[in-house]
Amino acid sequence: MLSQEDNELLCRVGPGTPMGTLLRRFWTPAMLSDELPGPDCDPVRVRLLGEDLIAFRDTNGNVGLIDNYCPHRRASLFFGRNEECGLRCVYHGWKFDVNGDCVDMPSEPAESNFKDKVHITAYPVLDKGGIIWTYMGPKELTPEMPGFEWTDLPDSHWVVTKLLYESNFVQAVEGEIDTVHLGFLHSNLDVDEKAKTATSWVGKYAYTPRWSNFHVKTTDYGIQIGAQKPVEEDSYYWRIAQWLTPYYTMIPRMPGTAVRVGMWVPMDDEHTWIMLVAYHTDRPPEPEENATQEVLMLQKTVDRKTWLPEARMENDFFIDRELQKTTSFSGIPRGFGRSQDAAMVESMGPITDRTHEHLGTTDRGIIGMRNHLLRAVKDLQEGIEPYAANNGRVYQVRSAAALLPRSVAFEDDPATRKELFVEPK
Ligand code: FES
Ligand SMILES: [Fe+2]
Repeated sequence: MLSQEDNELLCRVGPGTPMGTLLRRFWTPAMLSDELPGPDCDPVRVRLLGEDLIAFRDTNGNVGLIDNYCPHRRASLFFGRNEECGLRCVYHGWKFDVNGDCVDMPSEPAESNFKDKVHITAYPVLDKGGIIWTYMGPKELTPEMPGFEWTDLPDSHWVVTKLLYESNFVQAVEGEIDTVHLGFLHSNLDVDEKAKTATSWVGKYAYTPRWSNFHVKTTDYGIQIGAQKPVEEDSYYWRIAQWLTPYYTMIPRMPGTAVRVGMWVPMDDEHTWIMLVAYHTDRPPEPEENATQEVLMLQKTVDRKTWLPEARMENDFFIDRELQKTTSFSGIPRGFGRSQDAAMVESMGPITDRTHEHLGTTDRGIIGMRNHLLRAVKDLQEGIEPYAANNGRVYQVRSAAALLPRSVAFEDDPATRKELFVEPK
């Protein structure tokens, strides 16, 4: 449970809000690189942290991310002409380059120097790892890029996709680090029966028992969440997730399987961009792997104009009551988006009222994440800058899963450590 005041602090992201100010201390994943496929391509609307922006790639291939509103009389630059290294407003022809400088003002006399006095907000961008990142904070505080492993790998080693959730980013993140819901929301009615003969860890242990003991550790980057299950007499099954400041997640994964990074970026208070990456360090992901399959399915089922998947609230995520009675715990079919997860997260309303919730022991990760974010917001209000923003190397971690003797903590197991930490180069 949170007070209404803390809930507001946690969720509001617009310019000038405490959380909005914190988020603007970090590089922000703004869009997919392939939304701007080449020089002078069509401009794209990008709403980010409650701000309406326009992205374009100029004649030299450089990306600009500028205010939606032309500084002349505020027409949208979405309609602009992307030509000769700048975006030209079609109302009176004012033209802006990727740095936000007005480079042409044909509606004023040739001798006028008015154009030299006019600028449009332009945020710096970096194109890395299939994502266009931007920095929306004070120039003198430009942070380090988060040192995510995949952003330095060859393009062939990762796949990436994007979609929209119609909810605030905090409850979307909470849905991803709440690893205990796997045994309910994502399960079938026969999982207990199947577990008896299953050979994989997931088949055997992911659903039975459903309860886990959550171990949460605060780190330099955020929190590490270890869900511990007593599965055999002498062993625990561990599923280890990461939450990285301010909205990145890594869900548990079996040794050797693709690492999946989730980016849950506020479009505004009530909508969240989700960018998902699956990668291997040493090879391209295969299409039939679980993590890759999800990305490929989303690439197919998400409308690239609205970024909404086929299954969404307006069609009740295609819930099938017969399926719910006979086969699947939720009755919400997979394969049309992140339907089961999105249904739960969006059904709470755009900003969930945390004054009415009742958190249990399996919500320790969620409590840890909220505390970390609220602490960072309050620290910044007192002038303490967020550590992770200026120490990109702290993002060099991964998620994991392990079956270990009860006497061994997962942090002490060399094989699990190898999965969890990127080796310094
Ligand atoms: S409104 Fe853009 S040039 Fe006039
Ligand atoms: Fe889920």
